[in-house]
Amino acid sequence: MRAVEVAPSLYAADFWNLGAQIDALLDAGTRIFHFDVGDGHFVPPVTIGPIVIESIAPRVHEGGALIDVHLMATEPERHFDAVAAAGGDSVTFHYEVVHKPQRAIAAARELGLGAGIAFNPETEPEAVAEVAGGVDLVLCMSIHPGYSGQEFMPEALDRIERLHRLLPETLIQVDGGVGKGNAHDLNEAGARLLVAGTAIFAAPDIGDAYRQIHAAALDAAGAEPDVARAVT
Ligand code: DX5
Ligand code: ZN
Repeated sequence: MRAVEVAPSLYAADFWNLGAQIDALLDAGTRIFHFDVGDGHFVPPVTIGPIVIESIAPRVHEGGALIDVHLMATEPERHFDAVAAAGGDSVTFHYEVVHKPQRAIAAARELGLGAGIAFNPETEPEAVAEVAGGVDLVLCMSIHPGYSGQEFMPEALDRIERLHRLLPETLIQVDGGVGKGNAHDLNEAGARLLVAGTAIFAAPDIGDAYRQIHAAALDAAGAEPDVARAVT
């Protein structure tokens, strides 16, 4: 049972060495990889997509981990099939483009995918909480989505606390500018799944960076359900 999971965001990886980096993170204990699909529309950049999931899924699964796909896309449902076929384990779509998520949640489930709903810094957590019934996780963005390497927006802590009060049983994920310096506070605010890109991949030893963030977050964790299992 693990109270907190740190999910390395592969967007920040060195793609020349992707396989070796995934292996190193599996060895360090990673159980969830965060995979950012940017469509060049909902967010400016086109990032990575299902063909990369297809390449990494066998090894990730063999190593006992999951691929959690963050769809930064205007029409997220269009990508569910391809994500599932490529070996993705869960999809998180944005509240800003899917106001009535029940149909999207059902579509994800039908494909055997976990389902999450993400929301941007401009969106009120209360609005998301109202429609989040049945999701596996809610993702609070702590940056404006689009790029790795941005600075953490401290107001995310209050937004996570509000969300956690409204949805005490729901797994809360946080994404953007997360590292060992804020992992403890984020976990205390109620986030149990911490996405970290630059804080891991820009470090000289990525496995060590992963472990340090996990340890920092755990300082604040009590006995909670197994986060990796809650995703799917
Ligand atoms: C960007 C992505 C994030 C990004 C996080 O919008 O959603 O997952 O890779 O990277 P860092 O941890 O560097 O902010
Ligand atoms: Zn992301």
